[in-house]
Amino acid sequence: MKRKLAAMMLATACLTPVPITAHAQQVWKNPDATPSERVESLLKATTLDEKFAMLTSEWGATYKSHKKPIGAVGSAGYSAGNKRLGIPALQSTDAGLGVTNTVNMRPGDGATGLPSGQVISGTFDPAFGYQGGRMIATEAAHRGLNEILGGGINLVRDPRGGRNFEYEGEDPILAGDVAAALVNGAQDQHVLSTIKHYALNSIETARREMSSVIDEQPMHESDLLAVKIAIDKSDPASVMCGYNRVNGVHDCLDPYLLTTVLRQEWGYKGYVMSDWGAVYDGDAAWKAGLDQQSGLPLDKEAWFGDYMKKKVVAGEIPVSSVDEKLRHILYPMFRNGLFEAHARPTETAKDIAQHTEVAQKIEEAGAVLLKNDHDILPLKQGLRKILVIGGHADKGVMTGGGSSAVTPRGGSPVRGDVPNDVQHWPRPIGYLTGAPLDALKAEMPHTQVTFLPGDDLDAVKKAAKKADRVIVFASKWATEVIDDADLSMPHHENAMIEAATTAGKPVIVVLQTGNPVLMPWADKVDAVLEAWFPGSGGGKAIARLLTGKVNPSGRLTTTWPVSVSQLPRPEVKGMGLDFSPFINHAPADYDTQIDLNIEGANVGYRWFSLKGEKPLYPFGYGLSYTSFTHTGLKIDPSEDGLVAHTKVSNTGRRAGADVVQIYVNLPDGSPERLAGYLRVQLAPGESKDVTIPLSSYALARFDTASKHWVRKAGAYRFRVATNSFDNAGPSLTSELAQK
Ligand code: BGC
Repeated sequence: MKRKLAAMMLATACLTPVPITAHAQQVWKNPDATPSERVESLLKATTLDEKFAMLTSEWGATYKSHKKPIGAVGSAGYSAGNKRLGIPALQSTDAGLGVTNTVNMRPGDGATGLPSGQVISGTFDPAFGYQGGRMIATEAAHRGLNEILGGGINLVRDPRGGRNFEYEGEDPILAGDVAAALVNGAQDQHVLSTIKHYALNSIETARREMSSVIDEQPMHESDLLAVKIAIDKSDPASVMCGYNRVNGVHDCLDPYLLTTVLRQEWGYKGYVMSDWGAVYDGDAAWKAGLDQQSGLPLDKEAWFGDYMKKKVVAGEIPVSSVDEKLRHILYPMFRNGLFEAHARPTETAKDIAQHTEVAQKIEEAGAVLLKNDHDILPLKQGLRKILVIGGHADKGVMTGGGSSAVTPRGGSPVRGDVPNDVQHWPRPIGYLTGAPLDALKAEMPHTQVTFLPGDDLDAVKKAAKKADRVIVFASKWATEVIDDADLSMPHHENAMIEAATTAGKPVIVVLQTGNPVLMPWADKVDAVLEAWFPGSGGGKAIARLLTGKVNPSGRLTTTWPVSVSQLPRPEVKGMGLDFSPFINHAPADYDTQIDLNIEGANVGYRWFSLKGEKPLYPFGYGLSYTSFTHTGLKIDPSEDGLVAHTKVSNTGRRAGADVVQIYVNLPDGSPERLAGYLRVQLAPGESKDVTIPLSSYALARFDTASKHWVRKAGAYRFRVATNSFDNAGPSLTSELAQK
């Protein structure tokens, strides 16, 4: 009782502003003080009301009866600042692939879109992620936004996942490295960045109910490992807890995820924000370790406002728990310089050109050449006539849908199938400007390049007869809230490709898809370039890849199955249904639980290896217009752990980049793991001795008793490979001590 009274008195005292002058030093205003010193001094000057104002963010635009908050730029999240204390407002925007303008909340504002996460990770070079993160943050800052809800890092556990295009593939070490680079690129620009969706939110089916059932060890060795690596390498300002459940508990209400793992095991210092509308019980979320309730009014109640404040005043909740949450929010704000003024010149045409080039270069380095029979690519300059078909290739390139969809400057070049409003979200299907057709014409000035939309199959058949080469742009949209029902291409796209092949002319297919797809026509076409969703500048990148201006070097970061029967869960009921919150669905039969223990930590290529299944295209696969060899392998200790040495040679006649991959098999017999990778640029005939750092996580297992990663003593087999299935390269077995 006494404790309660004391708490009430303390809380009441906290409600009265202490004059700022009383805080003689105002340490929080001193950029030379440490972030922690600044946090502590600011906390002392902040009233309870002021503290609570920072524990929520609201939707930053008008939505139904919710009015756009005063001071909000117009974006996904707005958390008011504090003039009295000089605390900046947090203006957060989606996100991972560029600054979005969902349902046109900033009328007419367009931005630069990066290619899909598969492309960014497909470069196998985090430096591209860094460039991308920096580009997004710069564009955010130009608009007065200081936080990006990027860093999508759910592992691709199912190639039907609707949001896979936002993520960095199926390997946790690569995904963690790439996401960390994106975050660093953003935060170096004094723009906060997020890692999401924590955790194990791998599919969109029943996304608010879906429970991922998985044991502690495999959880830590897969999805959590990706998050841990990203946190260790970039200290992201925030981690976003997802809509889904893990082992039956909703992410944002889960003390195990939010406190035991994040704080106690990993020592994370930033803050946990909820996904928009992902708080289902405020009390449980508060206790579990959620710091900021996001996107009000999308939750049933604004629990982290007056509701909790009353409890603090009544002494039911200690003020210290409020301070703890505030520490998590304020620390990254200080650490990333949000309290200091930064010059933010307005966006110029030069900036836009540079940003488009960043996106273009990523696409050029990450798009994957899947097939190239008889070296039909690159297109030769002497060709007379090229017929381009489909995919709106005369207008632009496709983007994925949902909260990450970027609107290009000037709006989508393809008129949407439905209006761009809340009711139809995540539609319409979006496109970015930069038509591949125009770019191809520019690259091949002496060739007649013509276009057909592809809707009239007879016209396609007829025109194909007169062409030297036929290039079909085939697309399959992917989006948040809807998983692929299966991996098949839309019927019309298949029919269009089949029609193009009837003339017997060489056919090249350019895929724009969010996921692997089935290609029943694969044997009838000569080449397939997987452009994924190619981003702003993607049209130009595709043209440069097809013509050989740029040599393809991207690799798959998702295994392509022959069929869904090879997946750990061939059938998940409800896949393909639309789980948009803005549509009233007929009651449907769908699963609300998936057993991830089936594959556990053996995600993607490791699952195929475990089962001895041959994929259509393995993880790490991708063709080039030149050829590479790897000779020799040596494993050595270094200051930062083990490194691999090998020699890589370009044995062909074109310059190109190789992605050298080192896989390791542990003595315990578990399936191999990518231990290291390096992208190497080589001139024709050039050789380079390369040193590749190996991740200590690839060599160790998570020990659930000690909560540490332990490398067991024994024989470790290392191999240099061109993809996860390749066993022909140099290999060696090394005896390693326990660590
Ligand atoms: C998505 C998040 C996104 C948020 C805010 C949600 O629908 O799951 O990834 O950041 O909306 O737009």
